[in-house]
Amino acid sequence: MEDRLPIAADPAGAHHMPVLLSQVLNGLAVRPSAWMIDCTTGGGGHTEALLTRSAPDGRVLGIDADPAAIRRVSVRLADSIASQRLVLHHGDFARLEETASAYAFAPVDGVLLDLGVSSFQLQTSERGFSFSQPGPLDMRFDPAQPLSAADIVNDWEERDLADIIFRYGEEPQSRRIARYLVKHRPFATTAQLAEAIEQAVGGRRGSRLHPATRTFQALRIVVNQELAQIEGVLPQALNLLKPGGRLAVISFHSLEDRIVKHWMQNEARTYVPDPARLHGGYNRQPTLRILTKKPVVPDEGEVSRNPRSRSAKLRVAEKLPPI
Ligand SMILES: C[S@@+](CC[C@H](N)C(=O)[O-])C[C@H]1O[C@@H](n2cnc3c(N)ncnc32)[C@H](O)[C@@H]1O
Repeated sequence: MEDRLPIAADPAGAHHMPVLLSQVLNGLAVRPSAWMIDCTTGGGGHTEALLTRSAPDGRVLGIDADPAAIRRVSVRLADSIASQRLVLHHGDFARLEETASAYAFAPVDGVLLDLGVSSFQLQTSERGFSFSQPGPLDMRFDPAQPLSAADIVNDWEERDLADIIFRYGEEPQSRRIARYLVKHRPFATTAQLAEAIEQAVGGRRGSRLHPATRTFQALRIVVNQELAQIEGVLPQALNLLKPGGRLAVISFHSLEDRIVKHWMQNEARTYVPDPARLHGGYNRQPTLRILTKKPVVPDEGEVSRNPRSRSAKLRVAEKLPPI
């Protein structure tokens, strides 16, 4: 049976559909009375489903770096807050253990990370995440943090700009784009930046991908230190899980997915080669069992209902008991 898709909407008409919902709930094996942490509560879609599946007395700690997301979910799920089944926290998930301990929320049965940007953030032009919505060059999940996309585009050295566009956008034309941007800056809006990038690479050339897509991804990753946040949260999530507890991670691009995949593979390894010895190494007790040999991806029906789910990849692992 397909799980109901809770769609979070706000008065401005923006909405966010949780991706891979039934796959996440089944992967996490959410049971009545479970305690779960949703590290990326966003529009609250997964959070609400976790509450429903863990009824009648399961609990969820919902975290988000974006104060607007926390405000919206605190209205949407006010009943669960009143019944003390839901606690919401504004902050980075890289401080997961500290946050869980502040709410005495450990050990837990499951942890969910649904990475990246929500439809609310993309559809709110003032947040500056999208080149299809003209807005200020911002891209901060938390508007209180100091570095914005405008600081990077308008102030950084050409070489540094080219390096991040290449590394975090995997953009083959990074040098050409950086050179053009430095020559034509400053830029104030997402639309101006997108147009300049299009000029820099000589137009759209028939590609389905907008020429600014990769550069926007790179800027967002750097502004929010996204990869460092993921590297930081994974071991903390493992520490917080009960033996048999599950971790589910949805990523939306290869840089995120690679970090998750390699970390899970490393934790699941029973034999660790020793680089100092040609044929040497040692056996050890793995901490995780990987439950998704290949990442779970949305089916055609989900992609047509929710095109944003197109690039989603879900990986799930279970914490093993110590021997
Ligand atoms: C894809 S959305 C989550 C959507 C949510 N699962 C739902 O069903 O509505 C990702 C959310 O993660 C938040 N986020 C991204 N990086 C974060 C971090 N390092 N710490 C906390 N929240 C983060 C973003 O602000 C955004 O609201």
